[in-house]
Amino acid sequence: MKVGFEIKGRSSFSQKEGNMHLQFILRMFRTSVGRKVLMALSGLALAGFMLIHLAENMLLFKGESFYNGWVDFLLSNPITIYLEIGLLLLFMLHIIMGVWVRYEDWINSRGRKYEKINWQGGRTIGSATMLYSAIALLIYLGYHMLTFRFVDHSIGFYQMVTTAFRDKIFVVIYVGGAFALFLHLSHGFQSAFQTLGLNHEKYNFYIKVLGYIVSTLMLLFAFISVFYLFNLDLKFMPKESQVLEKIID
Ligand code: HEM
Repeated sequence: MKVGFEIKGRSSFSQKEGNMHLQFILRMFRTSVGRKVLMALSGLALAGFMLIHLAENMLLFKGESFYNGWVDFLLSNPITIYLEIGLLLLFMLHIIMGVWVRYEDWINSRGRKYEKINWQGGRTIGSATMLYSAIALLIYLGYHMLTFRFVDHSIGFYQMVTTAFRDKIFVVIYVGGAFALFLHLSHGFQSAFQTLGLNHEKYNFYIKVLGYIVSTLMLLFAFISVFYLFNLDLKFMPKESQVLEKIID
């Protein structure tokens, strides 16, 4: 009797809790502040993914077997598919909230044509070009998926990436994508902290600096592609056998 009461009490409580969570999430979508918060949270999570993806791609400098070994480990891991679905949902959330927030700002600013926009963190090239860098990134991402993700990987990931980067046009697109990411994050990172109310006079300077460090790191994506374009791997990188010896050691 006691057990039954406990279980009943517990399940009705968790159901109530679940309803409260659902209501909270729905409220986030319904209010303009909530939408901005969702955009900021998904943006910061995507910046985290970018740092991880950059670190992964820096492994190219460790040589073919190391890079391919890492990608094979990732792809054979059963949780990777869930991480990919999560990543896709994050991208969708960020894009949908971004379009929605922009549309609302546009509706609200109609008739106030000459009013100055009050950018969070001040007016910079990054803040003034947010929409354009976002569009460029979207196009870049589509190209990136078509050339690296949804293709035959049988020659190995290292060969696929390094061969592609010997092509000038390909590298121009990659440098452009990295620059768009740099611009977008140079404003987006600190702006997200302000939206979340995590800004404080004391820490604003550090948040700004962190934003510039994270965004500048994104230019390393461009460096990787240029490195292979100029065949610098053939000049400076250890031969595959040397890399293998290091792994065995
Ligand atoms: C040097 C530059 C880059 C290289 C060499 C590179 C390499 C790769 C490779 C090989 C994949 C396919 C992995 C797989 O099939 O599972 C991939 C996936 C992906 N890349 Fe990149 N990438 C670069 C830059 C970027 C940039 C700048 C972005 C974002 C703007 C980006 C976003 C993504 C995303 C979202 C995926 C899909 C993730 C997944 O399905 O696991 N990449 N990248």
